[in-house]
Amino acid sequence: MFDAIVYQDRRNKLRSLLKEGIIIFQGNNESPMNYSDNTFRFRQDSTFLYFFGLSMPGLVGIIDIDNGKDIIFGDDIDINDIIWMGPQPSIKELAQKVAVKETYPVAKLSNVVADATKRKRTIHFLPPYRAENILILEKILEIPSSSIKYKASVELIKAVVTMRLIKDSNEIAHLDEIMNIGYKMHITAMKMAKPGVYERKIAGFIEGMALSYGGTISFPVILSKHGEILHNHYYGNKLTTGDLMICDAGFESDMGYATDNTRVTPVGGKFSQKQKEIYQIVLDTNNVAVKAIKPEINYSDVHNLAATVITEGLKNLGLMKGNTKEAVGAGAHAMFFPHGLGHMMGLDVHDMENLGEDYVGYDNKTKRSEQFGTSYLRLARKLQPGFVLTVEPGIYFIPALINKWKEERINTQFINFDAVNKYMNFGGIRLEDDILVTETGNRILGKKRIPITVNEVEKTVQSK
Ligand code: GLY
Ligand code: MN
Repeated sequence: MFDAIVYQDRRNKLRSLLKEGIIIFQGNNESPMNYSDNTFRFRQDSTFLYFFGLSMPGLVGIIDIDNGKDIIFGDDIDINDIIWMGPQPSIKELAQKVAVKETYPVAKLSNVVADATKRKRTIHFLPPYRAENILILEKILEIPSSSIKYKASVELIKAVVTMRLIKDSNEIAHLDEIMNIGYKMHITAMKMAKPGVYERKIAGFIEGMALSYGGTISFPVILSKHGEILHNHYYGNKLTTGDLMICDAGFESDMGYATDNTRVTPVGGKFSQKQKEIYQIVLDTNNVAVKAIKPEINYSDVHNLAATVITEGLKNLGLMKGNTKEAVGAGAHAMFFPHGLGHMMGLDVHDMENLGEDYVGYDNKTKRSEQFGTSYLRLARKLQPGFVLTVEPGIYFIPALINKWKEERINTQFINFDAVNKYMNFGGIRLEDDILVTETGNRILGKKRIPITVNEVEKTVQSK
């Protein structure tokens, strides 16, 4: 955890951004897998972590804007819990770690909320995404569960987004440190990419590594020889020489901060000429995009720049044709690059996605594109120093998409479908780095960039 003062300052800052009322921050509860005592791994809500820092189930925080008070609601454990869980700090002791003086049992929450309702005070809350928390809000606010998300406070969402978008020096130092673990996970995956090895062995190994470093994975590992399936969570294939293994994986620290990188490794240690050519276009795209990142540039413009580099590269290989600007304008590149260039990252790997992607990645000056591919762009807004984001261009040969476009004659003036036919079994390549926007430009987070050039990757796979 950060020092108590960090959390207190954040709560005070939030208070100054809102006009009046109280703010309810629901922590998460245990969630059963197959019976109530057998639970999924506990994951605290990220905004609760941001303002109240405590990562255990059964807590609710209140920031009282008008009276300058912060409260934590939680229940102290009894002797029965101690038998099963061992001794635990009291809620008072926990609250002290984040500079909160006032604590009550959870049962008191409904009284405090009922009192605020009676006095017609504004009650702010964020859109809940867990069923248990929706039911709690339904009960204490007397709003039907089906309407809860429409009653969430837009003023609060915007204030939280404003704060969490900019990472402070504590957060940046922490992110820099944990990047080292993501680095080790990726190097290990590369070295394990040998013919005869099952994908699940590598996926399981790097997930275990994340646990062994005291955290976990920041999202389910994507590790597959079918890189053309963007979020592929099937690990049942055996790797053979000549396959390309995609590994999109990150570490999540015990404080909830994420890393997120993607690398592609040639099984057997050598890229073929055909693989190298596509790989190099993706790498050039990544490098050009990273170079362009600086304060004041719209990320949608960086996305378009990436689409331009991809289109130029594919034209050089004879897979695309025509005027590059017109091709990108028509969205022709999206048959090969059907997703956005990147997303915000921090306490969530897709930072604050639960608050609404358009509040996080867009603002009143940037509007989401309706075009296939670019419409998936999670981050379009103007960049500011302190933003942490991913750059993750890719080129994929998705047979179902290629066949659809071919049959429906979509963008035929920009795509050489006969040439593309020869790549039907190619798979996909994505290269992802995590970037901090600085006052003067940007830097890749962490001490060292995970091997990425053709030579670096081949050397790493072949090393012991
Ligand atoms: N790395 C997974 C994602 O960004 O969706
Ligand atoms: Mn990502």
